[in-house]
Amino acid sequence: MEMINIALPKGRLGEKVYRIFKAVGYECPSIEEENRKLVFENPEKGVRYFWVKPSDVAIYVERGAADIGVAGKDILLEYAPDVYELADLGIGKCRMCVAARKEFYDEGSNTLRVATKFPRIARTYYSSISRDIDIIKLNGSIEIAPILGLSDVIVDIVETGRTLLENGLEPKVDIVPISARLIANKVSYKFKNEPIRQLVQAVSAWQPEEGKE
Ligand code: PRP
Repeated sequence: MEMINIALPKGRLGEKVYRIFKAVGYECPSIEEENRKLVFENPEKGVRYFWVKPSDVAIYVERGAADIGVAGKDILLEYAPDVYELADLGIGKCRMCVAARKEFYDEGSNTLRVATKFPRIARTYYSSISRDIDIIKLNGSIEIAPILGLSDVIVDIVETGRTLLENGLEPKVDIVPISARLIANKVSYKFKNEPIRQLVQAVSAWQPEEGKE
């Protein structure tokens, strides 16, 4: 049987995703062993999993190194990879927001300084409201930028809102809701259509147990 190569985002979300795949019949026992391996396969089930950096999943899938993968909608909007988006897994839910110091109000006069890991999403949003901005591209700890006066606002992911709150910031605008999406390489989707469709159907039908996400 031909294997389906699956790129999972390393970390909490990826572990949750694997639990769903396992629950619907695509288990791979070796993945649960404590080790530092990055590739795991279960030939009986026709699956080969590998852990990659969450922001790299779409690259593996776009280039066909993985047939399918799970990526946040934030990554898909930011990098616009040429892949099929097959299902919304309904997990990893958060939102992309504009946030700033509590007392900040955008009077719209000067060019707005926007710190973010997501320049494309930020540009698209501000051009939709015709607001002139200057993007400051950062790679993490975005919340520090307005505290130190590096930027006026940030465009970033908010999940519980705790990081903002604990840093004297607050969400000002919700730009777009985010969740984990199942994506597929376009060529793989054609040539491994049957096994991929079966997997997508099984995963899409998965329902969380009461009380768990
Ligand atoms: C995101 C985001 C915030 C935090 C928000 O960071 O950049 O820092 O989560 O979560 P909260 O609203 O529940 O406090 P992430 O965990 O993706 O790490 P990173 O910024 O280092 O990539």
